[in-house]
Amino acid sequence: MDCTKFGKLHQQFLCCYPVNKMAWSTLQLPLDLDAQRALIAATCAHPLNQRFPVRRSYQEAFVKRLMQLLKDHEELHDDIYDSLCGQLAKATLDEDATSSTGSTSSTYAYKHYVLQPEEHITLKECNSFVSEGTTGLCTWEAALALADYLLEHSSLLNAKNVLELGAGAGLLGILLKQRSLQLPVGQVLLTDGSAPCVQLMRDNIALNFQDEPANSELAPKCAQLRWDQVSQFPWSEYATPDLLLAADVIYDDTQFESLLHALDYIFNLRKNRCQMLLASTVRNVDTLHKFMQQLEERHYQVTPCANVSACSSHFCRDHTAAVQIVCIKR
Ligand SMILES: C[S@@+](CC[C@H](N)C(=O)[O-])C[C@H]1O[C@@H](n2cnc3c(N)ncnc32)[C@H](O)[C@@H]1O
Repeated sequence: MDCTKFGKLHQQFLCCYPVNKMAWSTLQLPLDLDAQRALIAATCAHPLNQRFPVRRSYQEAFVKRLMQLLKDHEELHDDIYDSLCGQLAKATLDEDATSSTGSTSSTYAYKHYVLQPEEHITLKECNSFVSEGTTGLCTWEAALALADYLLEHSSLLNAKNVLELGAGAGLLGILLKQRSLQLPVGQVLLTDGSAPCVQLMRDNIALNFQDEPANSELAPKCAQLRWDQVSQFPWSEYATPDLLLAADVIYDDTQFESLLHALDYIFNLRKNRCQMLLASTVRNVDTLHKFMQQLEERHYQVTPCANVSACSSHFCRDHTAAVQIVCIKR
């Protein structure tokens, strides 16, 4: 399918980029009926969305916004009405199923991160930011920024074994092992302290590496690792880490002590022959500053990574909040 004509909207729709910030200005209005059909084919009716649908309420909001834009210009194609009616019908079915079974199965949906035409990562993610006692069941902005940074600086990965802490839904590790990108990375191990996150990562790895044999080094591995239990982790089952990654893990200062304890343990294990890239959304400058200070007190050198904002964006990122990426060594 040729989605190039609506490339940006196609990419944004599939990863649920906020409807009010989408590249609507790229539409050349009026859109004739063929163009309307092609736009629906690149979004709601796209085979990826048909097989692994993005959040229903998002699809509904997208179609309503599109109708609003087109209504003053032209007749609407039936596919647009069909998309909206389809979503409304599913909404009713979801509500009926939830009220009769008490089931919460509709709290998960899919997102597709399109990297190039015909190249994407599909993740199952939770529809709420906090669920099952964790913030990690969806992908956060800092993970997207670190993903962009690593794609732009792939030499940092050179044959390195990567360990991610607080990996959430698993985007970074899945990206690093994408066969088509041929990134020069060694073993990739994704960890999180939350059991639901580890299960979700496992599902997402299975979804993206269906063709790889079980236990293959061609796919990322995942395991549960709570920072305060770092010494009980079965380190001998995995390659020793050279590069640590973490995205959006500095928001709760009650967790600082255990995260620093985990870093100390891993840096000691590697006799300091490793480094870490830490990406943080700058929500509260004081919280970040406090963590950086504690790192320095423990004799880590913290260097801001150059050109983070200049780094070209392979993902649809909402740049409202700045993301800071630092390199940590000792
Ligand atoms: C905001 S989420 C970020 C998830 C992912 N890195 C991203 O940016 O999309 C923070 C993650 O850190 C994990 N986490 C928080 N405290 C932890 C701890 N003490 N041990 C291990 N993981 C922890 C959470 O379970 C969650 O997955």
